[in-house]
Amino acid sequence: MPKLGVNIDHVATVRQARRGADPDPVHAAVLAELGGADGITIHLREDRRHIQDRDVRLLREMVKVPLNLEMAASDEIIEIAMQVRPEMATLVPEKREELTTEGGLDVKSNRARVSDAVRKLKDTGIFISLFVDPDLDQVKESKKVGADAIEIHTGRYADARTYEESQREFEKIFESCRLAHKLGLTVNAGHGLNYHNVRQIAKIKEIYELNIGHSIISRAVLVGIERAVREMKGLLA
Ligand code: PXP
Repeated sequence: MPKLGVNIDHVATVRQARRGADPDPVHAAVLAELGGADGITIHLREDRRHIQDRDVRLLREMVKVPLNLEMAASDEIIEIAMQVRPEMATLVPEKREELTTEGGLDVKSNRARVSDAVRKLKDTGIFISLFVDPDLDQVKESKKVGADAIEIHTGRYADARTYEESQREFEKIFESCRLAHKLGLTVNAGHGLNYHNVRQIAKIKEIYELNIGHSIISRAVLVGIERAVREMKGLLA
């Protein structure tokens, strides 16, 4: 059974809608831990659209399970990661205009920058993962630049419109996981996984950890509404 890393970025997204204090991703991380999360994942974006620097500092102190910091290979964020020292850093591509991470890192075309970031972060004692598309060349390149792990991008599998398309994408994920495992990389996967499409991915025995965010936070909003309304009604009485 793969481990579950819970991505709490979207709790911060709701908070940032009002630029206030609630809901606090630190509280969400503690509750996710109580619910059995094996890891907490956050993405400190350069534009700070959801997770803030204060969250990273507090989560570092509060979270007892491994903290995975998703980040671009930019000088500013590398500096923060080296100070905070999460257990794992996952390098992702970042575009300002995107709604979420849209694809894997092109390790091959950015070899110098990626290997420089990998070396700096590894020297600080951080376990390094690269978020890559299910592409055998990208997996091989990840090994070459010295990564400890890869996270296979499952977004295209999750977004497939037909069963055939999803199975074609699944095959790519499966083959990439097998190759990465053979090369001695730790294999993680994530993006777009939900309560329906996760089962098939969870059966891939080479996968160590799945990172799941949006579907869990979305479900939490819905399964928690009834209680939240009842509690407010109680106060009005
Ligand atoms: N892995 C990576 C590298 C991501 O960027 C994200 C989204 O922040 C996830 C996993 C989680 O994706 P989702 O929110 O769709 O579950």
